[in-house]
Amino acid sequence: MHVEVRGLNKHFGDFHAVKDVNFGITKGHLIGLLGPSGGGKTSILRMLAGLETPDSGEIVFHGKTVNNLPPQEREIGFVFQNYALFKHMTVYENIAFGLKVKKANKHTIQNRVAELVELTGLKGFEKRYPHQLSGGQRQRVAFARALAPEPQLLLLDEPFAAIDAKIRQELRSWLRELIERVGITSIFVTHDQDEAIEVADEIMIINQGRLEQKGTPWDIYKEPKTPFVATFIGESTLIGSAAELKGFHNTGGKPTKALIRPEYIEVGHLNEFKMASATEQGIVKHLHFRGSEWLVEVEVNGHKLVTYRSLEKETLTPGQEIAVLVHRAYLFNDERSWIQENGLKEDPMPVFI
Ligand SMILES: Nc1ncnc2c1ncn2[C@@H]1O[C@H](COP(=O)(O)OP(=O)(O)OP(=O)(O)O)[C@@H](O)[C@H]1O
Ligand SMILES: [Mg+2]
Repeated sequence: MHVEVRGLNKHFGDFHAVKDVNFGITKGHLIGLLGPSGGGKTSILRMLAGLETPDSGEIVFHGKTVNNLPPQEREIGFVFQNYALFKHMTVYENIAFGLKVKKANKHTIQNRVAELVELTGLKGFEKRYPHQLSGGQRQRVAFARALAPEPQLLLLDEPFAAIDAKIRQELRSWLRELIERVGITSIFVTHDQDEAIEVADEIMIINQGRLEQKGTPWDIYKEPKTPFVATFIGESTLIGSAAELKGFHNTGGKPTKALIRPEYIEVGHLNEFKMASATEQGIVKHLHFRGSEWLVEVEVNGHKLVTYRSLEKETLTPGQEIAVLVHRAYLFNDERSWIQENGLKEDPMPVFI
């Protein structure tokens, strides 16, 4: 289903929880809704589902305004973070529930439940009750139950929040495959940026009721539109004045803040760099072994920067002096934001060490 949201607003008393939100979702896409707690993610989903009434704005499914349609007529499936299965019903009865409400005949129900049990890998569990299942299995029942009435839009509100990290990882790729196979338009809320980047076709970053940016994970990463988005995706260090960094003196703007991401920095011995004049002096503070690389914390002019270093290179030690090259920085002031390359890197002067 193609989804279009225009000028959506919601107040709870005096509190403006959702502020002029506009977006469109292509049919069949999986959108990740990402942002800090209290940002308005659940409120947006609840308005789409018809469980909450917007103060203003329009919700359009397939070109038709649905603001006045009750939830059961919106063709939506909803999966919540706390399983919310019917405790006194078996897996079979839970999955069949929506079809019974729709008064489907017994034969149709049997076929559809069998199909979903197969699709969600729950064969053999049909007669169990929710308390006889693991968290991951319960969430799969919740998916099957939401999908049973063949909704046009699937809303997933932190479906894996209560599940431990390892199983959560498995469920993520399972979900991605399932949604691709079913081909259903879906919105997936999560706090976890890795989860959003991994599963979503596009991400929407919601902060304090506003949609800060919408785009593919790669677009958002490489061209963050606001400082909030830049700090929210990836680990980063904020520096009060970009002019403190070599190669960023002449930024063109007013005193500008700089945001440095791990991938923007390289650390090493001075002789590892061609552009030694562009490097800063740093001190290695901590090293964390990450399995495939080192995560290095290094202090430069009183700022703690974080970067990665290949295992192939000579191992560093805490306390060691080291050269640090800041290749680029995300700069911003009150008016604008942009990514700038280190100006000294293009220095045509030959460097002799
Ligand atoms: N029914 C309500 N009555 C009053 N305030 C509400 C109500 N529902 C939500 N809010 C407030 O609106 C804001 C947005 O809430 P919402 O649940 O949409 O955030 P969220 O992004 O889903 O957060 P989380 O990630 O913690 O689930 C919060 O400040 C919340 O306290
Ligand atoms: Mg929420």
